[in-house]
Amino acid sequence: MLLSLGAHAVTGEEVMTKAGCMACHAKDKKLVGPALKDVAAKYKGQDVVAKLMAKVRAGGSGVYGPIPMSPNPPGKISDADLKSAIEWVLKL
Ligand code: HEC
Repeated sequence: MLLSLGAHAVTGEEVMTKAGCMACHAKDKKLVGPALKDVAAKYKGQDVVAKLMAKVRAGGSGVYGPIPMSPNPPGKISDADLKSAIEWVLKL
């Protein structure tokens, strides 16, 4: 999935790599956080972009287990980038 952001075509995966999300997440396997494909499967058919954007911003735990995701402030990932990242994850 390619998204045009300015002069570059940036994928959600590249956005997440740059923002440091991939330190805890991978597409196909659980690292610190859940496999991104498991996130997509969990919410299949649901409109959860806004909900997941809020969750990633604030951080939190309890959906996949006791390990918390740390907060991800706008200085780390912009709203636009966060939206493309979540939309990409939900299509995996
Ligand atoms: C410090 C490790 C860490 C980083 C960095 C991290 N995450 Fe997570 N993430 C987690 C953990 C742990 C969970 C599971 C939280 C839970 O069980 O509620 C999670 C859950 C999620 C979920 C699913 C939330 C839900 O409630 O279903 C999404 C989407 C997500 N992360 C996206 C991101 C994005 C995008 C970034 C980068 C901006 C990011 N994560 C950075 C550890 C991390």
